[in-house]
Amino acid sequence: MSDVAILRVDRPGHAPATIELAKGDITTIEVDAIVNAANSALAGGGGVDGAIHRAAGPELMVELGARYRGCPTGSAVITASGRLAGHGVRHVIHAGGPVWRGGGSDEERLLRSAYLTSLRLAGEAGARSVAFPAISCGIYGYPLDQGARVALDAVRDGLETAPSVERAVFVLFSGDTFAAFADALAILAKRTSQERPGTRLEDSR
Ligand code: APR
Repeated sequence: MSDVAILRVDRPGHAPATIELAKGDITTIEVDAIVNAANSALAGGGGVDGAIHRAAGPELMVELGARYRGCPTGSAVITASGRLAGHGVRHVIHAGGPVWRGGGSDEERLLRSAYLTSLRLAGEAGARSVAFPAISCGIYGYPLDQGARVALDAVRDGLETAPSVERAVFVLFSGDTFAAFADALAILAKRTSQERPGTRLEDSR
């Protein structure tokens, strides 16, 4: 896994945070918490959900069934990390992103809310580093460029209210997804640096 873009964001009164883009498999990254693109039934599935459950083992599904009755779209729930603890992951946050239905069904608010809730839960659990996939941008069909913009804006804003989180990493599985996030990060960097002169985009493509 190679980090290719890092945005350093100043936070008045708190340690600065970084938003990073990496290309690779989220089940291999060493962070305190990883976010899963789950469904509202918390029933498991394909995509990154399948990969995380396979890597973590059956313990996750047992805990989900015991503690939660599903997860409304736009929200998230937290569990332990099963076998992912082997490389330092302590929490898995299962977020329910929206299915893309053309853009008129509140998709943007729901996607933003899925990221913000995930970041809040990570902060409450004391996580300092969190990895995200491109929620809703696979099976759920959210257009990549829009999904990337919503994701990065939400995480930048959420870092303001989750001061314990110092590092947010988007782990992007395909070249297309990575390219869409890199473009959106460059736009966010330009906008953020006008408001916060300490903001810097490093190591971009
Ligand atoms: N690491 C990182 N990203 C991954 C991985 C992985 N191991 N596997 C897939 N991805 C990427 C996909 O390429 C896509 O960019 O995660 C992004 C999200 O895609 P999906 O996993 O299809 O998630 P989503 O679009 O939110 O759909 C959720 O799919 O798996 C089911 O149970 C899940 O019903 C839910 C739905």
